[in-house]
Amino acid sequence: MERRQFLAGVGALTVYGFAGAAEKAAPLRGPDVIFVPTPNEVVDTMLKMAAVTRKDTVYDLGCGDGRIVITAAQKFGARGVGIDIDPERIREATDNVSKAGVADRVKIVRGDLFQADISGATVVTLYLLTDLNLKLRPKLLKDLKPGTRIVSHAFSMGDWKPERTAEVGGTNIYLWRVPAPKG
Ligand SMILES: C[S@@+](CC[C@H](N)C(=O)[O-])C[C@H]1O[C@@H](n2cnc3c(N)ncnc32)[C@H](O)[C@@H]1O
Repeated sequence: MERRQFLAGVGALTVYGFAGAAEKAAPLRGPDVIFVPTPNEVVDTMLKMAAVTRKDTVYDLGCGDGRIVITAAQKFGARGVGIDIDPERIREATDNVSKAGVADRVKIVRGDLFQADISGATVVTLYLLTDLNLKLRPKLLKDLKPGTRIVSHAFSMGDWKPERTAEVGGTNIYLWRVPAPKG
């Protein structure tokens, strides 16, 4: 994907991590769930389960300190978009992207994950809560391309059966694939 196309995908939101990007965010509501980082070994397993490669664009919905999208870029060569509603997390993630030297491939966007444009994702990562996953599920099925992989740390999607599960350090990881539309 051209860098220009990649940047255009989130034009309506605040983009950090690229030279010249300026904050233009209106005040947003508070987070639906507090920041708890995914342990690094769980991050690695999530990205391996999704079979992430350099061809992928990984969206982390509620990106916290940015560790999932940074790892996707550093270890798997992917592009990443981290979306978070909390300005403190945005500052931290943007700083971490810069320190990790992946600002050409990872952007951090301030926004509400329920409103964000996620259509550019080929992989979506989640560490939310089961009720938030269930609330998000219709958007995932509507906005994502068939074949897009979704990986969730710890929380399931109710009656949507995962394609795979794994257990790392006592926590479950779930993988789904967006199906082709029926009919
Ligand atoms: C449990 S943390 C997960 C952080 C990161 N994904 C990880 O796995 O390390 C959840 C994150 O979601 C963010 N968040 C909560 N509600 C949100 C919303 N509606 N839109 C965007 N981000 C949200 C929080 O600010 C927090 O950083």
